[in-house]
Amino acid sequence: MSATYLMPTYNRQPISFTHGSGSWLYTKDETPYLDALTGIAVCGLGHCHPKVTEAIQQQAATLVHTSNLFGIDWQERAGEALCTAAQMDSVFFANSGAEANEAALKMARLYAHQQGFKRPKVIVMEQSFHGRTLLSLSATANPKAREGFYTLDDDFIRVPFGDIAAIKQAAKDYGDICAIFVEPIQGEGGLNTAANGFSYLEELQAQCEANNWLFMIDEVQTGNGRTGKYFAYQHSNARPDVLTTAKGLGNGFPVGACMVRGRANGLFGAGSHGSTYGGTPLASRVVHSVYDVLANSGIMENALTEGQFIRKSITDELQQYDVSSRGAGMMIGIVLPNTMDCSQLVDLARDEHKLIINVTGSHVVRLLPPLNISRHESQQIIERLVNLLRPLL
Ligand SMILES: Cc1ncc(COP(=O)(O)O)c(C=O)c1O
Repeated sequence: MSATYLMPTYNRQPISFTHGSGSWLYTKDETPYLDALTGIAVCGLGHCHPKVTEAIQQQAATLVHTSNLFGIDWQERAGEALCTAAQMDSVFFANSGAEANEAALKMARLYAHQQGFKRPKVIVMEQSFHGRTLLSLSATANPKAREGFYTLDDDFIRVPFGDIAAIKQAAKDYGDICAIFVEPIQGEGGLNTAANGFSYLEELQAQCEANNWLFMIDEVQTGNGRTGKYFAYQHSNARPDVLTTAKGLGNGFPVGACMVRGRANGLFGAGSHGSTYGGTPLASRVVHSVYDVLANSGIMENALTEGQFIRKSITDELQQYDVSSRGAGMMIGIVLPNTMDCSQLVDLARDEHKLIINVTGSHVVRLLPPLNISRHESQQIIERLVNLLRPLL
């Protein structure tokens, strides 16, 4: 494969797919690959879901773009469907996760500005990933991703994920904190969950309320049914002031969203933020179709049942080895011994087992299958992965 004209920002695998359907990707010669990655948690409804394809086709033939200078009926409808599911008051549509997070982080600064702060700080977590724009990159932990970009380090305080004592200490040490920004499960950082699970979010919200900070949750990866609820925070009693999402929101169509509630509602006014493309008729109709499927298909229940089945079956099959699992719904981390060399796993899974996976945090196999996977396909993921791992353990 020649990529002469493309900047080498990715180490691409030596394969490309020409078409996809449901849980399967196909090469030009029709070889099927079972997709347990879905474009990194994007195609939650499976590849080319008929309802989404129909929405794209019909809207592409009707009206693609007018700009936010005009009313956009599909944006209103998508906003209502999304905010109702997310239990939020209003939404700003962007085009990616990083852009949605950029909006959230800018909003935190506006919130601080209204209270007369000079240089506000946001608390973020170790191992976090929030995107590649300068502000979202500054919130991101990964030093390799940040290297050389003069990130805005003074504007963030980084604490260990899951550590409430560190948040309390930060509140004592700094007088200029305006928000906490957190992923419910750290996707890129190793499928990390807090020791007390989603109750961690409740503790974070309590700290935000006690200190008058905004509570902001990044559900770019965990949102849109991925963990078996519309949004992962809904596994807890926590309620964010600001909630971002992208990835599964468009099932492959690029779209992001920053939602607000309560005291964060109204921070952005006319002219304070914008996007030429955000919420086009086409993108919005896609979002509406995704939420129509999520609401009416039993797909999130399936994500919970099949996710649990995949996790349990793999750990049962490999119980004599040092293998455990973590995650929720269709966000599954299979944790391998940290002494194991996992550098060849992705290639071996693809070439020898026709299974598409990802490895994160050096020794965690990350499985992000479609939410509507069949039991037979779940069994295939289990069988292929166990056959890959067993000889290597
Ligand atoms: C939690 C989280 N936030 C933000 C992003 C960035 O999203 P995007 O690549 O759409 O800009 C990602 C991408 O992996 C993510 O997982």
